[in-house]
Amino acid sequence: MNQQTLLIGQTIWFEGDAMQSGPDAARISTCGGIVIEQGKVVARGEADLLRESYPQAKIVDYGNSLILPGFVDAHMHYPQTRMIASWGKRLIDWLNTYTFPEEMTLADPTEARARADLTLDLALSHGTTTQVSYCTIHPCSVDAFFDAAAARGMRVFAGKTCMDRNAPEGLRDTPQTAYDDSKALLQRWHGVGRAEYVITPRFSPTSTPEQLEALGALWAEHPEVLMQTHLSEQTDEIEWVKSLFPKAKDYLDTYEQFGLLGERALYGHVIHLEPRETDRLAETGAAVVHCPTSNTFIGSGIFEAAKLASRGIRIGLATDTGGGSSFSMLRTMAAAYEIGQLAGTALHPAQLIWLATEGSARALFAQDRIGTLAVGSEADITVLNLSSTPAIAQRHARATDLWEAVFPTIMMGDDRAVQAVWVAGRLVRG
Ligand code: GUN
Ligand code: ZN
Repeated sequence: MNQQTLLIGQTIWFEGDAMQSGPDAARISTCGGIVIEQGKVVARGEADLLRESYPQAKIVDYGNSLILPGFVDAHMHYPQTRMIASWGKRLIDWLNTYTFPEEMTLADPTEARARADLTLDLALSHGTTTQVSYCTIHPCSVDAFFDAAAARGMRVFAGKTCMDRNAPEGLRDTPQTAYDDSKALLQRWHGVGRAEYVITPRFSPTSTPEQLEALGALWAEHPEVLMQTHLSEQTDEIEWVKSLFPKAKDYLDTYEQFGLLGERALYGHVIHLEPRETDRLAETGAAVVHCPTSNTFIGSGIFEAAKLASRGIRIGLATDTGGGSSFSMLRTMAAAYEIGQLAGTALHPAQLIWLATEGSARALFAQDRIGTLAVGSEADITVLNLSSTPAIAQRHARATDLWEAVFPTIMMGDDRAVQAVWVAGRLVRG
């Protein structure tokens, strides 16, 4: 018989969308368990019942630590890992001063692999088991990321970042090479092991209409893959888009007119929307990604999570490193809470956990594989110590329910709270 492992601890999972129904969607147990076998979740429930039903299982008892799905970081840039926390610039200056020179260095496949290894190890040490990453214009940067993820058994999503204007020499492709490279990479990687390819125009300012059209054509040939890009992050950027696409109705239209809007689209930031854009996102079923530490760090603005969720728009949560200022999805949840306060809605801990796990997975149409502890799901699991520092422990000691017990870790926790990480049923940390 295959080895079964029973993880015991406090558990939270969801039946329904926590952005819609709040904590009512959550099922919590102070003595729950998850049984894993051959890399998948095969049972979940109360620990006592699982012990009886799976007497052969090896037991790993995490006490009152919290067992969650591994975090899903729905938007980040692995090439930017070394330039996190670069001071003093807003988006366009930040791209030109820090980002583009750094992305140039990934022309070297050895460098690309080192950056991918570094980034994925940082992810795992923070309890993140899936990243959705932009690569660079260089095809070798995509190979490096997928190879590095395969070496760790991780499910990742990534694509070649296409740009054919407003970027320096050495970081530009063409409509044709963007199409050809993306297609070759998609065919090489999509569905191989746990790799998923994402068609990736960086954003409208760095793609000509011809390039957007070419990538729209590729997406029409491969509607099974996701398409990711940036939308309405800063007001200066929006003015620039208007001047580059004078006939477009708005920023979102610069994508829609080239076939780059649909259910499998994933837009990062999405802060300064026109009412028409919100309507089109809702009508088409596209997903948006909240990048709260980046939105404050680069000075972009307030993402309106509750408002977008009330329109039925799926929302993922992301670090957006290196524009974001932390690799930690705990810190990212804390920032989402703070931004929610500024936007007028306090997100419940259930909603913050949802966004970092199943919400992000739903944004990727991956909730049957990751982001949940449902039976059949891949066993990517993060275990959190809810008393990981003296400051957190003294607050945790006064908690009267599980939400109050977990919220100090959301607000103040970091990689010290990550007690164990399992990837596809294999213990990789802890
Ligand atoms: N818009 C276009 N490219 C980027 C990027 O790399 N980071 C962020 N935050 N916004 C972008
Ligand atoms: Zn980004």
